[in-house]
Amino acid sequence: MSASDSSGGSIRGLPIGVFDSGVGGLTVLDALRRRLPCEDFLYLGDTARLPYGTKSRDSITQYSVQAAELLVQQGVKCLVVACNTASAVALEALQDQFRPLPVIGVVEPGAEAGCKVSRDGRIAVIATESTVREGAYQRAILRRRPDAIVMAKACPLFVALAEEGMTDGPIAEAVAHWYLDELLAKQHPDTLVLGCTHFPALAVVLRAVAGPEVALVDSAATTALALERLLLDGTLLNAGPKPGRLQLLATDGPERFARVGSLFLHEPISADSVRLVDLGARETPCAKV
Ligand code: DGL
Repeated sequence: MSASDSSGGSIRGLPIGVFDSGVGGLTVLDALRRRLPCEDFLYLGDTARLPYGTKSRDSITQYSVQAAELLVQQGVKCLVVACNTASAVALEALQDQFRPLPVIGVVEPGAEAGCKVSRDGRIAVIATESTVREGAYQRAILRRRPDAIVMAKACPLFVALAEEGMTDGPIAEAVAHWYLDELLAKQHPDTLVLGCTHFPALAVVLRAVAGPEVALVDSAATTALALERLLLDGTLLNAGPKPGRLQLLATDGPERFARVGSLFLHEPISADSVRLVDLGARETPCAKV
């Protein structure tokens, strides 16, 4: 795609669309904004239908397409699927449906990060049930390191803990031990890929449970690099001079989005700045924000 559309308008000046099942993707958005401070971002959290991680393939694909359609209607120059579950299940469907719009997910960058830091290729992926079932991380890692021994473990309670702000303390520690002790003792991974948007919020507990020998990686920083590469290759990079703007959309609960989302974005969010949208009413697209 070139940086100008047929009417001569500048595609380069459009925002980057980012979506997640909720506020967890704000961890990815945080990294994207740090790497690309002059870009505008339009972020959609499908809070009405969170979690995606326990849903069927069909539901996750349908929700992801609806979220992407809404962002595309608003006018974006590319899409970042910040949700690991949506990336694992629906990335190809999104790329097919919205071509030539560039669409990237977080699974490939997360696999890249894991392969880079792993010393001996014993890589464990922790993620939602659907991400683990889909096997996308496992395939992405083995494509890069065919000799790797890949383990995958669904840890759905970590999502609830992060949503409740219970990211440390005895309950988070007990849950982390319950999920990880056997995996760590029997399979000895040297790297733990945090294959879910919410899991970086539990990094301190995960680090304590996994021990100093195990590297923890997530996809936020490598996704930011992949996005930068994509924008450079398509001459779509917005290099300034003004700092980029952020617009936030949610399908439910702006107050909760603002409260919990502030923790994930690492900056305060006011509920008034979160626009409520309805993905079921796409024939009447939300007003430009
Ligand atoms: N955003 C999801 C992911 O990264 C976690 C929350 C959910 O299950 O929807 O997989």
